[in-house]
Amino acid sequence: MTRKLTSLIAAGGAAALMFTTAACSSSRDGGGSGAGTNASGGSGGATISKSSLIGISMPTKSLERWNRDGANLVQKLKSMGYTKTSLQYADNKTEQQSSQIQNMINQGAKILVIAAVDGTALTPVLQTAANKGVKVIAYDRLINGSKNVDYYATFDNYKVGQLQGNFIKSKIGSTKVNLEAFAGSPDDNNAKFFFSGAWDVLNPLIKSGQITVPSKKAPATNDGWKSIGIQGWTSDAAQSEMQNRLNSFYGGGKKVNVVLSPNDSLALGIAQALAAAGYKPGASYPVLTGQDADLANVKNIIAGKQSMTVWKDTRALGNEVAKMVDQIATGAKVDVNDEKTYNNGIKVVPTYLLAPVVVTKDDIKAKLVDSGFYQASELGL
Ligand code: GAL
Repeated sequence: MTRKLTSLIAAGGAAALMFTTAACSSSRDGGGSGAGTNASGGSGGATISKSSLIGISMPTKSLERWNRDGANLVQKLKSMGYTKTSLQYADNKTEQQSSQIQNMINQGAKILVIAAVDGTALTPVLQTAANKGVKVIAYDRLINGSKNVDYYATFDNYKVGQLQGNFIKSKIGSTKVNLEAFAGSPDDNNAKFFFSGAWDVLNPLIKSGQITVPSKKAPATNDGWKSIGIQGWTSDAAQSEMQNRLNSFYGGGKKVNVVLSPNDSLALGIAQALAAAGYKPGASYPVLTGQDADLANVKNIIAGKQSMTVWKDTRALGNEVAKMVDQIATGAKVDVNDEKTYNNGIKVVPTYLLAPVVVTKDDIKAKLVDSGFYQASELGL
């Protein structure tokens, strides 16, 4: 873990335990309309004082980005005067997340920011929150099946997949290739968007015969994404799955030319399987995608063991969510820019979408270092 991240987490961690209760109430509201970024109705409820507790629930510490997300948000809220935050990590366990959120409600939280482990598992605890007039912001991952979600902030998840699919298409040109595909955790609502964005680009090339999938693990439609999903987004599971495919479907000198990996933690495991099978960086090394710009993966891109990552500047997401918290707290109109896409099965949740960008070896410095996301020294640059 990077030095900067460690200091950020230290700052965040310290704040995680400090909170007091504050007396206030608020009511739930719907969406507004207009061009570009439009504010979604006034939050309408009574204002919430800055000394109120803000509960922040993150899925796990074992996936690098969430540590950054949590620390960023605590720090940003603190800089805006919201010093009472409770930042909790759920170890990728749904029950643990529900009980942590329940504790935040019991401790008087007035606004909850939640990156769900499983977006379908929070309906009961969100009803408890609603009964107390607590406002809920879904963070990065949509919360499904509940009317008690007020706002959603995330990156354009479908675009993430499109960027990965188009990157592959640009790399293979009209060459016939062998491709293996992976999808994200079956309990993660984002994973279907990532897969759909990529598969809408790649599936036609499979149907045309330009792309072959020797393992046959190629869903006929986007709805089949869970069949190649990796539970919990773990590198280990991705590594063993890739090793099985290489052992079973790539004998007799057959080479894999492309691997669609939806994020960096999977790409790390896949790169380890490729290395174990003798693939070395260079002209014949497979095109390998990723997402999140995790430190180890950015180093792999520099070393030629991964081709790209889709960077989502978690600082920008933290800033947007902190702004949402402040707008809710002050009864102001809440900025959203998508009031159509994200239907959680009960309602369309007013959403603020941020733009993901592709990072390759050629623009790591310009995008990740010059923006301060990483120090050059952390990347060995
Ligand atoms: C997704 C998130 C990705 C990736 C993945 C695993 O929901 O949008 O950025 O981090 O989870 O944590």
